[in-house]
Amino acid sequence: MNSSTPHTILQRRDFLGLSVAAASAALLTACTPSGRSGGQRIYAGDAAVRAAEDARPSSGKTVTAALTAAPFAADLGAAAAGGTLSTWGYDGAMNGPLLRGSVGDRLEVALANRLPEPTSIHWHGLALANSQDGVEKLTQEATAAGAGFNYGFKLSHPGTYWYHSHMELQRERALYGALIVDDPDERKDYDHEWVILLDDWLDGVTGSPEEVLAELNQGMGSMMRGGHMAMGSVSPFLGGDAGDVRYPLHLFNGRVPADPDTLAARPGDRVRLRIINAAGDTAYRVGAPGARLTVTHTDGFPVEPKDADAVVLGMGERIDALLTVPAGWTPLMALPEGKAGLALGRIRAGSGREPVPAALPSRINGEVFDGGRLTSAASVRLPRKPVTVRHAVRLTGSMMGYNWGINGRRFAMDSPYDGALAVRQGDRVQLDFINPSVMWHPMHLHGHTFQIGESGARKDTVIVRPGATVSVLFDADNPGQWLYHCHNAYHAASGMMGVLSYVR
Ligand code: C2O
Ligand code: CU
Repeated sequence: MNSSTPHTILQRRDFLGLSVAAASAALLTACTPSGRSGGQRIYAGDAAVRAAEDARPSSGKTVTAALTAAPFAADLGAAAAGGTLSTWGYDGAMNGPLLRGSVGDRLEVALANRLPEPTSIHWHGLALANSQDGVEKLTQEATAAGAGFNYGFKLSHPGTYWYHSHMELQRERALYGALIVDDPDERKDYDHEWVILLDDWLDGVTGSPEEVLAELNQGMGSMMRGGHMAMGSVSPFLGGDAGDVRYPLHLFNGRVPADPDTLAARPGDRVRLRIINAAGDTAYRVGAPGARLTVTHTDGFPVEPKDADAVVLGMGERIDALLTVPAGWTPLMALPEGKAGLALGRIRAGSGREPVPAALPSRINGEVFDGGRLTSAASVRLPRKPVTVRHAVRLTGSMMGYNWGINGRRFAMDSPYDGALAVRQGDRVQLDFINPSVMWHPMHLHGHTFQIGESGARKDTVIVRPGATVSVLFDADNPGQWLYHCHNAYHAASGMMGVLSYVR
């Protein structure tokens, strides 16, 4: 055994079902993590990971699904050159199938990889068994082209979640879908429930995500050539520079505004919207001119309800909101924050004139906020407790050099534990997301739902504006090795990632 790479070897052996005793013997040779002295890392194959999974509530029910990741031809209407384009998705659709279960159910998903390259699926926002988290080299080997992987885990918290390929540029294609976990005890005080997936789109229209990343890495010199860089896209709401990439299309449930998704209801009906921002580099300001939203949840967890004219979602965030349907047609608009364009759906309740995109307002103002500005519902607020471990997470880098990183370090999947943040099971953890860069970052933590400060919303993805610090708290109750990263696909692909590492 090459003693300089114990992690890789250990993980491979873990996947082959090596015994726990042998695995912990191998662990003794693992290096010491930074931040907390001593201790060995608790890897995905550890008994502690299985124990945490066993301790989760069980309904005794299993929900099964199969997902095939493959190239397919998508029809985005006249907006796409030639009408159709070729991209990658699950089951041949712009949005993967809706996966749905109840708290305590076991979800089993058989992934078949028909892509020309390896893939994996991440279950965004779920507190699940670390071994099923879908991060290559950290919790599993990527699933090779032509191979498969069987995911299986318990659903522990109700709410609006989603799944996506954890190869960051695959996520920039159509490899994502919604995942809803129902609370069997919840009183449903609405007539309809609509799941809305928002996405910025360029694949097959103006280029590929790989070309865009190459352009971004070349910096200003490439501006003339590819033209994907978004210059001067500014959002006061996001504190400055809104994004790096210019997109020709913005999609609402996989459709362009010229051919919008139409949601039918009766005037006066109450609707629960479950809005998911699956974009790579675009925050959306979502509103329905003519109706107000009552925001009830963010990232799956309830908040003190708050009325809004619009809500802003960074990449990876979700918002649940109630809306009372007006008579006639109501546009459901998702305006790319600081960028041109529109993602559009529409509500039909009776007759009247259909909203045409050109006649819609170009801004939605009034009461506008993001999930990070909400207050958690008392039922999910963390009990007060002294913080036992605190880590500073500086979001470093710039658009100029495209050298995004954490604490000045560019993350490398081949040495994921460099700069890892160590925690022990039972810790009350505080992470300080400190943003000295001139751009906002939607920071996401796998496997946990943190709380913003003493009483803010419970979230797994939070907008951190330039110059700002956002402190989040959580209890370290889900052992394993968990990624945290910026949910901007290009920032993540460029190294704005790190590992939250459970040690014992
Ligand atoms: Cu939705 Cu690691 O991400
Ligand atoms: Cu970022």
